[in-house]
Amino acid sequence: MAAPAPFDAFRYAHAHRNEVVWLSQNTNHLVPPDVIRPAVEAALRERRYEGYPLGSGEPELLELVARDLGRPGLVPFLTSGGTESLYMITRALLSAGDEVVASDPSYLIIHRFVELCGARTRNLDIYAPPYRLTADRVQEAIGPATKMILLIDPLNPLGSGYPREEVRAIAEIAHDRHLTLLNDVTYRDFSEGHTLAAEFAPEETITVWSVSKNCGLAGLRLGGLLAPPERVKELARFNTNDLGVNILAQVAAIEGLRTKARWIGGVVAQTRANGARIRDVVASVPGTRLLVFPSRANMMAIDVAATGVGPEAIQREMLERHGVFLRAGNYLSKAHGTQFVRVSFSNPPGDIERFAEAFPAALASLRPVTAAA
Ligand SMILES: Cc1ncc(COP(=O)(O)O)c(C=O)c1O
Repeated sequence: MAAPAPFDAFRYAHAHRNEVVWLSQNTNHLVPPDVIRPAVEAALRERRYEGYPLGSGEPELLELVARDLGRPGLVPFLTSGGTESLYMITRALLSAGDEVVASDPSYLIIHRFVELCGARTRNLDIYAPPYRLTADRVQEAIGPATKMILLIDPLNPLGSGYPREEVRAIAEIAHDRHLTLLNDVTYRDFSEGHTLAAEFAPEETITVWSVSKNCGLAGLRLGGLLAPPERVKELARFNTNDLGVNILAQVAAIEGLRTKARWIGGVVAQTRANGARIRDVVASVPGTRLLVFPSRANMMAIDVAATGVGPEAIQREMLERHGVFLRAGNYLSKAHGTQFVRVSFSNPPGDIERFAEAFPAALASLRPVTAAA
């Protein structure tokens, strides 16, 4: 008899998408719907989907992105999500044998793109305070094959962020050593006082931005990069969107960025309050602990190693039994993936209450039975 198919959490969650609480992909469910919906509905009524968009992107959107990031002289470029920019950058700039200084945990999709080029990441273990890279460790890790430094700030999955002076120091290393600094700022709007590395090393830095998380548009797939014009030309050789990126996504992003100042404070405040509620829940469950609090993004990693229960078992129990989707750590760390789960929380408070009920119950039912005292 054939072995049963392994449990596919995403297939399960999408099949039950209206019952499931999505705490699994750092998506943002707090942007007021009346911000985005009317603009997209108007574009649908106009049947803008029938024609190709302007290949270079809606001029208003490009202007809004440039203003949002606020680095004069640097040029925004649109792709289908920040993910595609990450792919283009690695493809265009890395060859076999090259090295990229990165971290573990990290957003490992980028590492996979590096490996597709025949290059490799040098993963600095950051599963200990301060739970992020430091300029000293980056400096030490640079060797003759190093071409790039990957600076994800704030960092998925830990929620750690970089103080301004550390960003400056890492940017100066990139400048002095003639390395590309790939600064992924997908979660920037959740981080108070965030610093762009491009401020200190505009020539060496390629900034990858996204409207998936700040504007709550993950499903529309729009993001991009920001770099000096010559750099953009070099990277654009690998552009697959000659015919433009999704017009409905562009319309939505224009509306999101145009109005962001009005509602982002409320989104961040609710996200922070949710983070505090999750901290209290985690504190009540023996053997579990948060690595970084408060998160500078909209996710946190919960270490579960001392429970004796594996993250994948927790993910499955939470999803199947309680309808709460969080993520097992193996997706985000080669070295520590068996030690943590990640939970994201830009969600209505009711979703967080579902987590609050489910997490202690799931751990209680999964915990190995120990000998009676
Ligand atoms: C660090 C980081 N970069 C990039 C992305 C992808 O963003 P996008 O939806 O714009 O492709 C994510 C998504 O979770 C992420 O965590």
